[in-house]
Amino acid sequence: MNSRPAPQPEPDADLSAWDDALRGRHVLLLVGGGIAAYKAPELVRCLQKSGAQVRCVLTKAGREFVTPMTLAALTEAPVYEHLFDPAQESQFGHIRLARAADLVLVAPATANLLAKAAHGLADDLASTILLASQAPLLFAPAMNVAMWQHAATQANLRLLTERGAHLLAPDDGALACGEEGAGRLPEPAAITSAAAQLLKARTSLEGRRALVTAGPTWEALDPVRYLAARSSGKQGYAIAAALAERGAQVQLISGPSALTAPPQVARRQVESARAMRAAVLEALPCDIAVMTAAVADWHCGAPAAQKLQKTRHRAPSLKLAQNPDIVTELCAHPQRPALVVGFAAETERVLTAAKAKRKRKGCDWMVANDVSPAKGVMGGEQNQLHIVRADGVEHTPRQSKAACAAMLAERIAARFSPSPA
Ligand code: PMT
Repeated sequence: MNSRPAPQPEPDADLSAWDDALRGRHVLLLVGGGIAAYKAPELVRCLQKSGAQVRCVLTKAGREFVTPMTLAALTEAPVYEHLFDPAQESQFGHIRLARAADLVLVAPATANLLAKAAHGLADDLASTILLASQAPLLFAPAMNVAMWQHAATQANLRLLTERGAHLLAPDDGALACGEEGAGRLPEPAAITSAAAQLLKARTSLEGRRALVTAGPTWEALDPVRYLAARSSGKQGYAIAAALAERGAQVQLISGPSALTAPPQVARRQVESARAMRAAVLEALPCDIAVMTAAVADWHCGAPAAQKLQKTRHRAPSLKLAQNPDIVTELCAHPQRPALVVGFAAETERVLTAAKAKRKRKGCDWMVANDVSPAKGVMGGEQNQLHIVRADGVEHTPRQSKAACAAMLAERIAARFSPSPA
């Protein structure tokens, strides 16, 4: 999961802008227990008007504000309320509901539901579905302004969005509790628009083949020692996941990394720069290449067959040889991808060096990364991307690597979307 604030709806929430993104899609609406739950029936109608098939799950607190009868009548389907419902659970009802959804929409998302989702609690049907579902998650929170601004709620939201859940921020205005401020549930049309936009984005790279390199390469010195950069693979894996979430067919070529392959991503693991080069060339043709791997510039020649012993050997002097420059070769290849994005890891003169690298290597975009130890980027959880293009530099905020990946994937999708007439 990545992100991320949900794409914010247009002020007039014009659904026509998002075509038929909801038509025939299964939306599972989880209704939390807040006064804004009174808008749930209207939200169901709005989603249905856009062509969605809606099923509702009502929390115990949600039932205090809206009746299951109303939601059942509107959806012409049962409303699910209990985790331990013998009729449902004999067939693992919560898992089936979670699996069948194209989108799980939580509206209103109360502070309690957000906290449970953030911390993986599963003590009722709604929270269990949130844990079991692999569908995109859209939270539309609504609550008192003090609860919304509370550090705990904000920290929970950060956790959820860093894991890829989407958030539609509440509106400002007069709240049911009599206070003023952020906390109002957006209007049903605006929530429907955000849901449609989210699902639309998930097809924005459909039919595109993407290649992503990630992690370090290990250049063996002997059977137990190697030369490598400190890369963890986190940024590259997050980018592979974000491209796959947008419907691209993704091949991830990874150097040694402890990470598991993201869902829907085909991973090939390699060790050395020379093995990565071969795997990259075998992955052609493709439309998009994002080269985040921290490829070692040098290798140590043929590694010693046995572990070098310090008792028998003096400190060896390393004789390094140049590795192939994979991205330079890719950019000059007859099957060059339409978009090649390089990453430049620098500790000084970051932008100047990245601009020069973009030209020298022949990339369309070069993403400048300041990897000075104080920034904690290599191996860390956060990053800040500066996207260098031929016509200028786009600076993006420091944020989680998942959020960086979502932002870059959005830029890539925009590059491939047909430009408006
Ligand atoms: O893995 P993480 O811990 O999440 O950290 C992410 C990261 C900091 C490693 C990543 O965001 C990043 O900046 N990757 C680029 C690392 C790097 O090798 O930069 P470079 O400036 O040395 O290389 C520039 C480009 O040439 C890169 O796209 C690199 O993949 C490519 N290259 C470099 C050398 C080489 N022999 N062949 C290459 O293709």
